[in-house]
Formats: sequence, structure tokens, C-alpha cells
Amino acid sequence: MKRIIAAATLGFLLTGAVNAETPVYLDETKPLEERVEDALSRMTLREKINIIHAQSKFSAPGVPRLGIAELWTTDGPMGVRPEVLWDEWEQAGWTNDSCTAFPSLTALAATWDPEMALLYGKSIGEEARFRNKSVLLGPGINVYRTPLNGRNFEYMGEDPYLISQMVVPYVQGVQSNGVAACVKHFALNNNEINRHTSNPIVDDRTLYEIYLPGFKAAATEGEAWSFMGGYNLFRGEHASYNPILMNQILKGEWDWDGAVISDWGAVHDTKTAVSGGLDMEFGSWTDGLSNGASNAYDNYFLAQPYLEGIQNGTYSEDELNDKVRRVLRLTFRTAMNRNKPWGSMGSDEHIAAARQIGGEGVVLLKNENQTLPINPAKHKKVAVIGENAIKKMTVGGGSSSLKARHEITPLDGIKNRLGEEVEIVYARGYVGDPSGEYNGVSTGQDLTDNRTPEELTAEAVEVAKDADLVIFIGGLNKSDHQDAEDSDRETMSLPYNQDELIETLAAANPNLVMVNISGTGVAMPWVNKVPAIVQGWYLGSETGNALADVLTGDVNPSGKLPYTYYASLDQVGAHKLGEYPGHKSVDALGNEVYDMPYNEGIFVGYRFTDKNKLTPTFPFGHGLSYTTFAYGDATAPKIFAKGDDKIEVVVPVTNTGDRKGKETVQLYVRDVKSSVERPVKELKSFKKVELNPGETKDVKFELDRSDLSYFDADKHDWVMEPGEFEVLIGASAGDIRSKAKFKAE
Ligand code: BGC
Repeated sequence: MKRIIAAATLGFLLTGAVNAETPVYLDETKPLEERVEDALSRMTLREKINIIHAQSKFSAPGVPRLGIAELWTTDGPMGVRPEVLWDEWEQAGWTNDSCTAFPSLTALAATWDPEMALLYGKSIGEEARFRNKSVLLGPGINVYRTPLNGRNFEYMGEDPYLISQMVVPYVQGVQSNGVAACVKHFALNNNEINRHTSNPIVDDRTLYEIYLPGFKAAATEGEAWSFMGGYNLFRGEHASYNPILMNQILKGEWDWDGAVISDWGAVHDTKTAVSGGLDMEFGSWTDGLSNGASNAYDNYFLAQPYLEGIQNGTYSEDELNDKVRRVLRLTFRTAMNRNKPWGSMGSDEHIAAARQIGGEGVVLLKNENQTLPINPAKHKKVAVIGENAIKKMTVGGGSSSLKARHEITPLDGIKNRLGEEVEIVYARGYVGDPSGEYNGVSTGQDLTDNRTPEELTAEAVEVAKDADLVIFIGGLNKSDHQDAEDSDRETMSLPYNQDELIETLAAANPNLVMVNISGTGVAMPWVNKVPAIVQGWYLGSETGNALADVLTGDVNPSGKLPYTYYASLDQVGAHKLGEYPGHKSVDALGNEVYDMPYNEGIFVGYRFTDKNKLTPTFPFGHGLSYTTFAYGDATAPKIFAKGDDKIEVVVPVTNTGDRKGKETVQLYVRDVKSSVERPVKELKSFKKVELNPGETKDVKFELDRSDLSYFDADKHDWVMEPGEFEVLIGASAGDIRSKAKFKAE
């Protein structure tokens, strides 16, 4: 008998097969909560403390004695970050950790296609899984409140509905690999300047209508297994352990059972971290500098000080148990999930996904005289100009910096596709940032060029003059004060005198295409002088191929802007009415903070330009195609009857051009008369449809009462006021093609 049990136990150890001897917490046939309780009951106080804080830069220790696995996290959100040293940010020097770099999340949002978000999440999740990571530190979904935010490129734009639609499939895709998404940075982390001391002052209505919906969707529909708190403050407490955000809203109102992870170094105090709903502390390096690396992790706020606080009765073990339960849940769902797939890295599928998502995200902002697509029959000689045509950009920008297995530059992409048919000439035009190194990862490029701006311009003009088409590829890069973490941009203008250069090129050759590489809006004072403008984002490994797909028309552009492209900061609510970057103040504990009243309230993005009748350079939702679409009349029932849950709105859309193409048809809702001020219109649905030339499809939308509601702060609930509503259907927030009214009872 003894021998049989021993054999069965050995069988479990070798194969994981469950038998009578298997402890409940290791038995995956048992309900999750039973396993969690069983594991919890076996843990010592010290083990409980250990499991809720880091043991290295990116990992937490699990419970070695019980075989409860370590949790390995990784950035995120646009590719799996290379391995750093145990205790340092420097590279570990592994040679197996190069990833597929996917397009920036703004590019993903610009696809307006939840299926692309699912593909993205699934693909990046597979890479994380292959690298044995359990938590992917992404996606980032902070609302685009100002074009100056250094991290806009990591986020999904300005609209809470669009963000919600895109974040859910991303999370589901990642988690289908047994890898947790860690949705960040919850919440109101809308700028990088003063990021540890910004104290947004936001009313409840604005919070619930603008800044929370994406996070709510991720928590409730996406069922994200982890969240990351922000660095900033909110109502007097840091976001990573903010009792309102974490306890009241996330874990209370949304009934979420996942684990809250601090941002790296976002914890400053044990007492509030304990009570404010934080479950795992990372990146603190509390006394690391004075106490040395060997015991830095013991000095975390949720380590020794917490343990001692429990031992001397300052804190109850109940709070700790709640945190441990959440970490165990996270562990069982990921690291200790035996049923997860194996994952893969750099597969053909991932490369194809990166290219497809990139191509679907590129936005054709302007295309007069059919300047694009490149047509070898008439464009025999194409001049490509600009640093961003040759600069690799997957390295840099902060924690999203990657070590990509390959990166195709725009110039190489264009040459690969057209080099045999078309003469392609290149000139640098300007020198921006010739470096290509971040955290010990190098692009391997040295773009040093010591020529003067005059020399560079002269060469560019020379090259542009006799070309049939000029493609200027410029914009921002990942240097500080551009699209980069830990600093905001100082102005909306393009750096390195590009505005002047663009005007000079437009004068030299009117057949000019400006491809703007950035993750945020830039001022375009030359907009009327350049016939074609493309928003190219950061597209990762396949940058050049994805761009060439669109520039040549192999892929008919279908991306739409996920944010308003303002003409200047005067059109931005945050700058016009709100305070940015806030004013110095002192919090209750005597710490210096930057109070930042969000006086623009719910009027963010197009809600602000609509209200103030401002014409941005390009509106939210804007994006052209090489074909054209005609919208018919929208039909909606006259009455949204009391007994009905939803109504259907239909609009016929026709491809009136001669190419197959995709159009994202957008539905906005307007409350005709309301007791409170409401936005002129709000996005409440969209559909991306593909149409052959001449083809018409009926595009159908469903609306329910929540789509008609506003958040009533006094009632602390969503309210739909019966009465007249209007649906506005269009190709962008600035291009409404059809309207229909109905009465909601
Ligand atoms: C960033 C996070 C990131 C973390 C770990 C922080 O500085 O704000 O987004 O996940 O570092 O690298």
C-alpha cells in the first residue's frame, strides 16, 4: 500500500496528475477559491509578507517551501522587455530575449478594430508566455488629456468609449495565454511632468464619465487579473494605494478580485499602502542605497515594516490575508496554470500581426490631388527625406523600450517594396537625435552627422527638386521631452526646425507627402501647403513594411485618429481652462505636490472643441481612404419605448470609389435637452466595415439606456433623462453625414 501511494505521489510530482494525495491548492480540478484558502491556511506570517512584494526588479518570490511559484512580470505594453539584472536596470545580457515589437498602442487604437486588439493581445501574450512571464505590464489606457503628455504613445487616445472597446479584447487576448494583463496606470496618470507629485483635482462626474470607463471595462468585461496604480495622487493619496480608487471603486463598486500592483517606486508609506488597497509592491528600492542591495527588498514598505506592524498589533492580519488571496489568485491563474498554451516568440504570425495592425492603424490625414498612393507609373523617382526614415525607434522612450529581433526602417520598407521599379533617393534633411541606446540596449545605428542645418537643407532641396514625389518622414522620436516617459513635451511644435524644412521642401516640390511619426498630436503650421499627410505612429518591428503597404496602396488606409489633432494648445481644455502642469502646494503630510485642477471637467478632446466651436487641424475619428464612402440616411425608431432594452440604428454606407476599402462608421449621441450640461455629442458605437467598389452595406448599431446616460454625482449613479435624443452618424467627429432623432421614455 505504502509503495502504491508513493508511486502515485511520484506520479503527481512528475506529471502533475491529481490523486488523493494532492494538496487542494495544487489541484487544478478544485475551484480557485478553495485552492486559495488552502494555500493561505498553510502559509506562515513571514511567507504571507514575502509574497506581496518584489524580490528583484521584476519578480516576486512566491512561497518556495510550498512550491507556490514565483511571479515574473515584464513590461509591456508594446513588446516583451529584455531581461535586466536582478537588482539593476542594466541589461542582463541574455541573448534569447529579443522580441517582436508591436505598434504603439495609439496605433492600435487608430485601427478602431477590436479584432486587431484581440490579435495584438494574443500575440504579445504568446511572447510573454514563451519568456515565462506571468504578468505583462500593460496595456496602458490613460486618457489623452493633453498632447504634451510624454506617454500618449503608450495609451489609446482620448475617448472613454473607444478605449473601452479596444482594451477588453487586448486583455482577453493576453490572458488567453495564462499571462495576466496589468492594466495601467489606474488612474488619472495623464502627464509625466511631476509624475510623482501631480495631484489632479477632478469631480466625480468627470472621473466616472471620462477617466474611469476604460478601466471599468478592463476590470469587469475584460476581467483583467491585475491592475497597476499610478504614481500621481488623487484626493490626497497616491494612486497606487488610493482608498477611493482601489477599495471603493475597483474592488468595491466593480467587485474585482484581481491584484493591485504598485507602479515601480510608487509606494511611500506603509500605513496607507496597507489600508489603501495595494496588494503588491514593486520597484521601491526603499533603503536600497543606504542598506545595500542584499536586503533592499526586506525594507520595502510592505515587507519588514509591515511584518513588525502586524506583530505589534498596528495592523490586522485580515488586511494582509486579502492581499495574499489576491496574489495567490493571480499566481494560480498564471504561473501555476498547467493548462496554458506554450507561447511563441518572433513567429511568422507575430510578425504578420505587427505588420497588419500597423497597416490598419496608419491614418491618411490628407490626400489632395491623389498625391498618394505611390504609383510607379507616374512616380519614377521618389525622394525620401528625414531622419525618421532611417531611425530605429523601438529602443527608447522609457519602460516600453524594447530589444526587437528586427526593425525595418521606413526607408528600407519603401526600398524593399519599390526599389526595383522606382528610383529612390534619400537625404537626411535634419539631424535630431543620432543616438539609439536605452538602458544598455542599442539599435546598432550611429546616426551622427556633423553637417550644418544649411548643408542638410540644401541637400534635401536638391534631392526633392527633380523627384516625382517627395516623402518627408519626420515627427518626434523617443528622446526626453518627446514621446518618452518621465518628461512631457514642452511645446506642440515639431523639434529640430522641421516646420521650416517642410515649408522649404513644399516650395521646392509641391508633390510632397509628410509622414509624421509620433504617438501624439503635433502642430502643423504648414498643413495647407502640403497636399498629403500621413500619421505614421511607431509601428515596431515591421514599421517600414507597414508604412510601405499604405503608401503604395497595397493596404488601403483605414486608420482613424483616436484623439483630436489640435491646431494649438489653445484648443485643449486642459490648457485653456484646466491647470497644467498645476501649481505647487503642500499636502496634509507636509509634502510638496502639484495641484492640478481639471477645470475643463468632462470637456476633454472633441467634447471641448465641439462645445467651443473650435476647428482642430483634424478631428477625432478622422482618417481617409484611397476610396470614398457615401452615407445614406440613418434610421432609428421614433420611440425608445419604456419596455425595450435597446434600439437599433441603421445607416447604409456605399463604397463610391474604385478600390476595396474599409470605413469606420461612428455613432455619436446627443441629448437634445438635459437638466445638466452635456457634451454636444459623445461616441457611443462604431463599426468598421469593408466594402468592394460600388457595394453598399447596412451598418447596424445598438444603443441601450446606458449610452444615453450621464453620471449624476449626487445620486452616485448613471441617469438617463427621458426625452429627445439625436444620433449623429459620421466619418469623424467633424464629419457628420446623417442624423436621426428619437424619444427615449
Ligand atoms: C512605469 C511603468 C512600468 C514600470 C516597470 C514605471 O516607471 O511607469 O509603466 O511598467 O516602470 O518598468
